[in-house]
Amino acid sequence: MRNLINILDLSINELDELISVASDIMDNPQNYADKCKGKIMGALFFEPSTRTRLSFTSAMMSLGGQVLGFDQAGSSSVAKGETVSDTVRMVSAYSDIIVMRHPKEGAPIVASKVASVPVINAGDGGHYHPTQTLTDLLTIHKKKGRFDNLTIGVCGDLKYGRTVHSLISAMSRYNNVKFVLISPSELSIPDYVKEDYLNNSKYVEVTDLEKAIPELDVLYMTRVQAERFDSVETYERLKDSYILNHSKLASAKSDLSIMHPLPRVNEIDVDVDEDSRAHYFDQAMYGRYIRMALILMLLKTHGVDDRRGTGVEIEGKVCKNPHCISNSERGIKKLFNSKSKCIYCDQ
Ligand code: CP
Repeated sequence: MRNLINILDLSINELDELISVASDIMDNPQNYADKCKGKIMGALFFEPSTRTRLSFTSAMMSLGGQVLGFDQAGSSSVAKGETVSDTVRMVSAYSDIIVMRHPKEGAPIVASKVASVPVINAGDGGHYHPTQTLTDLLTIHKKKGRFDNLTIGVCGDLKYGRTVHSLISAMSRYNNVKFVLISPSELSIPDYVKEDYLNNSKYVEVTDLEKAIPELDVLYMTRVQAERFDSVETYERLKDSYILNHSKLASAKSDLSIMHPLPRVNEIDVDVDEDSRAHYFDQAMYGRYIRMALILMLLKTHGVDDRRGTGVEIEGKVCKNPHCISNSERGIKKLFNSKSKCIYCDQ
């Protein structure tokens, strides 16, 4: 079974292929209209979504396929206490590919261990969001024409921002990429991202957005993730840490790419929307095409079994991350890799 749990599940050659197919779909959509005729996508959204759910739905329908699923856990038997494992086992009997968003980190790994069809991670808590990264990569390809030799500013909630974690892991594989990580210290990038993806990349951690702007080729703004905070007071204090507006862009490069995975709250003023460097709405639009390319790739890939679950139990050891699926899902083993990190959430 071929799944997409982490963006690094795709090689650089496969990313190039996805970008090439997505570009061809944009130019020749009629050639793809029946490619998934007779196929069904199960869309399991345990958390709210506009872009990811609807662009996946649009992608499958544009390929001639059909979609079933739910857009809130409360309308499924999860509300009666059913586990992720049992839910996914059932939906794999009703569909050919599963797209799943879940608030618990590592939930897609649990799903991939029991599913009989490919599983796509559409966002797991504050952990990863690999298909957003595919959208981001297509945007960078279209707007900058390269992945090497870029200085990328990532601004906002770098602690809980799953899109940031996946983007950094993807871009760290390219040459001469420098990351400027702009956040309040309380929302800085987690250690596991630094240890696993930034050990061979140039990066600086700063708090001042305006000082950072002049050197950037890409500025990736993010929302402070209200839903991940344990304290409302902390969220209220940090939520407007950065607000990009027209005047702050005065010192930016003329070919800067301003990106945002959306939804935005206050972090980009609407006065930036008319700036030719504002690429976030194009970025969301590209999501439909790169997801079409991904569905085609995963449905045609057979014979590779990349089910997760490699790791060992360590007597008495549990994951300390309260948001990890291993602390809420009944009946799964608590597994750790050779570095003693939880295999579900990497912490
Ligand atoms: N970027 C993104 O994941 O948006 P949604 O939450 O609307 O899917």
